[in-house]
Amino acid sequence: MQKKNENPISAEPSVEDIEQMDYYDFMGYMEVPFFMVGGLESSERLAQLCDIKPNMRVLFIGCGTGESALNYVRKFDVNVAGIDIAEKMIEEANKRVHQEGLENKAEFKAGDAYDLDFPDKSFDIVISEFVSQFLDCSRAFPEFHRVLKPNGRLGINEMFKLDDIPPDAEKTVNEAEQIFRELTNLPFTLYSLEKWKQYFTDNGFIDLQSEEQLEIGSAISSREMIHDMGGWKGIFKMLGKMIKLMLKSKKIRKKFGMISKAKRRLISNRTTKKYVGYLLLSGRRK
Ligand SMILES: C[S@@+](CC[C@H](N)C(=O)[O-])C[C@H]1O[C@@H](n2cnc3c(N)ncnc32)[C@H](O)[C@@H]1O
Repeated sequence: MQKKNENPISAEPSVEDIEQMDYYDFMGYMEVPFFMVGGLESSERLAQLCDIKPNMRVLFIGCGTGESALNYVRKFDVNVAGIDIAEKMIEEANKRVHQEGLENKAEFKAGDAYDLDFPDKSFDIVISEFVSQFLDCSRAFPEFHRVLKPNGRLGINEMFKLDDIPPDAEKTVNEAEQIFRELTNLPFTLYSLEKWKQYFTDNGFIDLQSEEQLEIGSAISSREMIHDMGGWKGIFKMLGKMIKLMLKSKKIRKKFGMISKAKRRLISNRTTKKYVGYLLLSGRRK
């Protein structure tokens, strides 16, 4: 029998197996703690926009490796559930639950945002961080609404582009969208603020509260980032894993190359960064 706080043993996959992984299973294997560019600070700010209170039930859609959900447990004393389509992500999330002994506060399982395996009106808050931008929101938002209790809040932490983006910047954004679509096989799209809000109002959400951050590259300090990634030890662990894989596999080198190409176009490009940012938006279920 497995003892508490002991890592579940899983066989190390071969380089060929890793090359074959879907993008987010690969990211799960890399143990990336979270993806939102605003870091855990933006996630905590979103919780406040959702009027979070102790003992609430919070559902994380596309929870990844679970770090931001577990951060809600630590910071706000809530109960969390998380679903993700990538099984490797869920495996890593459950490892974290186990390591922190939070089995009575957190539950992660594989699942699909379009078909949530939860009863109607079962959560106080539903959170989507860097997930809805990869989804067909006209299919996903009705599901988010269904599982929320009346007066419950949906909160999203997603990227957006300004409506008045000039054509050359828009072209660069489109290139980045295309790269992420190719990498993930998902319909990654940067919506405008108005479009995101329209998804809320069209799906029965009212009392919208929002905050936006442009120039993402400067939104998060390197100190916060190092802290959020588990300190220097966490950063070196991930870099070591990355370098080892890149040395062994051309396919994986290509994958990392595409990721940095897309990120440069969205985050550090001098023209696009003035028009691209992340949005924290919350709305109440009527
Ligand atoms: C960019 S990551 C964000 C992970 C996490 N929310 C975070 O901010 O760190 C997007 C996640 O959405 C998941 N995902 C994509 N499509 C999904 C779907 N239809 N249902 C559930 N999860 C999905 C991916 O597997 C991935 O873990």
